[in-house]
Amino acid sequence: MSTGLKVAAFLFTLLLMGCTANPALPEATSTPEMDDGRITYEEMVVGYSQIGAESNWRTGNTASIKETAVDLGVELIFDDGQQRQENQIKAIRTFIAQQVDVIGVSPVVEDGWESVFQEAKDAGIPIILVDRRANVPEDLYATYLGSDFMEEGRNAARVMVDLLAGEGKIVELVGTVGSAPAIDRAAGFREIIQDYPDMHIIASASGDFTRAKGEEVMGDLLQLYGDEIDAVYAHNDDMAIGAIKAIEAYGLQPGQQIKIVSIDAIRDAFQAMIDGKLNATIECNPLLGPQFFDLALKVVNGEPVPKWIPSEEGIFFPEDAAEILPTRRY
Ligand code: AHR
Repeated sequence: MSTGLKVAAFLFTLLLMGCTANPALPEATSTPEMDDGRITYEEMVVGYSQIGAESNWRTGNTASIKETAVDLGVELIFDDGQQRQENQIKAIRTFIAQQVDVIGVSPVVEDGWESVFQEAKDAGIPIILVDRRANVPEDLYATYLGSDFMEEGRNAARVMVDLLAGEGKIVELVGTVGSAPAIDRAAGFREIIQDYPDMHIIASASGDFTRAKGEEVMGDLLQLYGDEIDAVYAHNDDMAIGAIKAIEAYGLQPGQQIKIVSIDAIRDAFQAMIDGKLNATIECNPLLGPQFFDLALKVVNGEPVPKWIPSEEGIFFPEDAAEILPTRRY
């Protein structure tokens, strides 16, 4: 090969490596070599208060945050709140004392954040809400990155209307009481089914977004309503998978005698659809790491960011589940 050709081949290889390294990562807006006064990924210290590990969705979300931090060279101080708001508040106070550059928080419930967010603001540390909103004035956080939970609830209802041909008795497995997704997924669902007078939510009970509680609560509902139940609307896939177990233990066929629609689109939901036990899952995207750190860098460097960055999400049905399952990352 001539020298010219070798150089061209080398450059082409470099280009390919650059293009395939990690397509999901945000583009570097600054590098350590650039001394323009901007903070770089490698210089940024991020405190992150996660809710817990209640669902497969959450595990995927945590992995996305941690892996992206490593890939970008960001110093991440991660705290698992074990689904308790007081633990999250304590973690945020610790981040403030450590003088981190920015705080990411996924609030377990909507209310009760105002004073600790005000403390962060007074210390000059911006807050980024990830996944879940908090019920606070807009000046107390820089931006919210996450799903449109109302629309997820509406989509679940639209699918349910089709499945039941506009007529039937539904039981609802609610997420963590007081959390943004539980509030909005309930409201969005009702907004649609109110136009169908023969569709009734006969019971709502919280399964706290966990498989174990979903199973337990569904077992109780079956004892109360038994064969009357036409369908289950579960605020997440983990509770739906718990409910599937309870329905089978009760002697009915989930997905057939009792239709089930849930939210998240985790891998186990695809398997349940392949097995004919789940009728649809509405996607809620947990892979927020790349967007979160991109936003964090912009915020610490004083760049303007939108107040809400919504995720793009789809709806999945059993007929496509086998083809799509291998592509799912959570
Ligand atoms: O906030 C997102 C929700 O939290 C997911 O739907 C659920 O699985 C998780 O626990």
